[in-house]
Amino acid sequence: MDTLAQDKAGPAREEPDTAVTRLRAVRRMSEDLARPLLPEDMVIQSMPDVSPTKWHLAHTSWFFETFLLLPFLSGYRAFDPAYAHLFNSYYEAVGTRHPRPSRGLLSRPGIAEISAYRQHVTGAMEKLIAGESEKLWREIAPLIELGLNHEEQHQELILMDIKHVFAQNPLKPVYRAENRTKPREAKAPDWIGFPGGLIEIGHAGSGFAFDNESPRHKVWLEPFRMSSRLVTNGEYLAFIEDGGYRRAEFWLSDGWTAVQTQAWQAPLYWEKPETGWAEFTLAGMIGLDPASPVIHVSYYEADAFARWAGKRLPTEAEWEIAAVSGKLDQAMDEAWQWTASAYGPYPGFQPAAGAIGEYNGKFMSGQMVLRGGCAVTQHGHARPTYRNFFPPSARWCFGGIRLAEDA
Ligand SMILES: [Fe+2]
Repeated sequence: MDTLAQDKAGPAREEPDTAVTRLRAVRRMSEDLARPLLPEDMVIQSMPDVSPTKWHLAHTSWFFETFLLLPFLSGYRAFDPAYAHLFNSYYEAVGTRHPRPSRGLLSRPGIAEISAYRQHVTGAMEKLIAGESEKLWREIAPLIELGLNHEEQHQELILMDIKHVFAQNPLKPVYRAENRTKPREAKAPDWIGFPGGLIEIGHAGSGFAFDNESPRHKVWLEPFRMSSRLVTNGEYLAFIEDGGYRRAEFWLSDGWTAVQTQAWQAPLYWEKPETGWAEFTLAGMIGLDPASPVIHVSYYEADAFARWAGKRLPTEAEWEIAAVSGKLDQAMDEAWQWTASAYGPYPGFQPAAGAIGEYNGKFMSGQMVLRGGCAVTQHGHARPTYRNFFPPSARWCFGGIRLAEDA
């Protein structure tokens, strides 16, 4: 990875204490996220894209074991050699895998064993960080940073996935209480103008970024305007009430097919009992708040809404320039924002050599880029150059809408 290579010269030997503190904090966060769950909750795979909580807890440990402990900690023995097959996600270069859609069939190993696996890996990682020479530290520090960022990504997935699991249950379980105490007020959006021209996007510098954010490169933009805030539930409801899901003229062909075949009539998790629209959240079913940003729409729905509204989705370059300007509200804390950009390599992109090069690069086909961050993204995890990506029909990610238009 470019970024990893750049960072190799960076970290100095005094960093291990910080690294151990950060390792413990990240590992503990995953365990804290699982704490409200019953063992039965942690095994369910509600659709092929969803992974059980237990699998996430194990797979993030497998990542450290495979890419750091086995190659770099002398005398390290795998906790259980069978886990290499069970908890490998998609790395062809490191061996076989249990099929993704069958992760929910893994009743064994049980939660207690996965807990012991986590402790084993965290303890060994502490030993690795504390005991190694300056020379080795420079080699492993970028991989540790990658492992921590990887685990933070899975922390978001744990919440995305358990929301989908709970949504299937007629009891509509509450994962955690809502901390918002009063309804929001939606202001009219400001339309912020940007002059365009020859600009630069992408990661540069010494801080961590995933390889897909590099290299920084030039992009030409025509002048454009972008909404200061996200599209609200109330605005999306107006689209529904105007026949948005029944009028083919707003939809891309693939999107219209998805509406028909999957019988979409509203965002995922919206329901309309007799008392009016409600939305399933991590705090259970709540009445739809018209001023909150709409979430759990696919790229196709975001695009159709934009066409209905007489606007369009921003490209990822437009989004990044606008976010860096500091003029956007709700840039990274509410909902990921679908962009009009297909997920592909930046000019000059080079994945890392070896298995770790499979992290991002091989998914650069058939997916759209989302920018920003959302309410379940770990604090400090995302940044303006961050490129999230999902297939255009995906609705279980926290995808929302920000509109743009030509100036
Ligand atoms: Fe992973």
